[in-house]
Amino acid sequence: MPTNRRIVVTGVRTMEMREEQTPTPAPGEVRARSTYVGVCGSDTHAFHGRHPFIPIPYLPGHEATGVVEELGAGVTSVAVGDRIVVEPTLPCWNCKPCRTGSENLCENLQFFGCGYPSGGMADQFVVRADRLHVVPDDISDLGAALIEPLSTPVHAGRITGPLQGRAVAVLGAGTIGLLMLAVARWSGAAKVVVTDPLPGKREKALKLGADAVVDATAPDVAAQVRAALGESADVVFDCVAVRSTTLAAIDMALKGGTVAIVGVPSADFELPISIMQDQQIRVQGCATYVSQDFATAIEMIRTGAVRAEDFITAQFPLEEAEQAFDASTSGAHIKVLIHP
Ligand SMILES: NC(=O)c1ccc[n+]([C@@H]2O[C@H](COP(=O)([O-])OP(=O)(O)OC[C@H]3O[C@@H](n4cnc5c(N)ncnc54)[C@H](O)[C@@H]3O)[C@@H](O)[C@H]2O)c1
Ligand SMILES: [Zn+2]
Ligand SMILES: [Zn+2]
Repeated sequence: MPTNRRIVVTGVRTMEMREEQTPTPAPGEVRARSTYVGVCGSDTHAFHGRHPFIPIPYLPGHEATGVVEELGAGVTSVAVGDRIVVEPTLPCWNCKPCRTGSENLCENLQFFGCGYPSGGMADQFVVRADRLHVVPDDISDLGAALIEPLSTPVHAGRITGPLQGRAVAVLGAGTIGLLMLAVARWSGAAKVVVTDPLPGKREKALKLGADAVVDATAPDVAAQVRAALGESADVVFDCVAVRSTTLAAIDMALKGGTVAIVGVPSADFELPISIMQDQQIRVQGCATYVSQDFATAIEMIRTGAVRAEDFITAQFPLEEAEQAFDASTSGAHIKVLIHP
């Protein structure tokens, strides 16, 4: 008897809810019952056939939280009943990046919920036990759903930091950009200026502590950001990564600043390499997170530096996953969750 419902993206802009057998955990794995599963920019890019590394069909759900229900053989790191959040990177632990603390760059990386034969957008899922973090009692289920999204900006801030005392620009005030703002504030940045084309997103950035916001559609967006910062940006977090944002980011960072590519580009484009050489611009790719970033994200949520009610704006049942994806790209929401 099929006892598990699962969302499958079967084609560009098409998904279905399938019934399957309850999955059984292999040795080293657990079976968890989903609590909240986030819809991410990467999910909606993939759903629209625009993600460079997620082929369709795919089983979504990398922002997965749940409660452990069954342990596979040999699992001792978690117990039945534990509330968990999945760190969805699935490293091999053998290659050079894995052996040197950069398992996000694993040469054999697989990614739970992103092109992997399993994901969390289901009533229940199985996942490797070594990829779980136990959620502390003083973090709510909704707070737990922000741990994975927050870990990306934590990582980006850590590898381009320290941000203490620095002039920071954040391009794009979606979930990632607004969490990036929170990380910059928490890290002690001197000034943070945020851009977005949508007035509602800019307003939200101001509410969450941006010193100033700039309309991203303005032709002189870089000049306006520099004026609002009062100087060039030490670090620009490009949380969109289309040609116009990355070129503007380079303009903001002149001279000597860092441009962090946090958004997933849906296409390649040319960069002004002669200006980057002459004006000593550093471009830093930012790929997800490692375990210590999850630990920092957990601490930020536990201490109230990031509050679920500021970020989670909609919840949908599993059978309305498509509406959840649409809501996520509507511009009217920040983090949209699916509640199986
Ligand atoms: N590097 C990583 O490991 C990683 C992890 C998660 C997500 N991402 C990527 O980060 C990006 C943001 O994700 P999200 O969940 O916040 O998406 P989102 O759709 O919630 O937010 C994107 C925001 O950018 C704004 N925007 C669009 N064009 C803009 C422009 N020209 N200038 C400024 N802002 C603009 C939109 O109005 C929106 O508010 C996506 O590309 C996603 O795939 C990367
Ligand atoms: Zn995500
Ligand atoms: Zn590896």
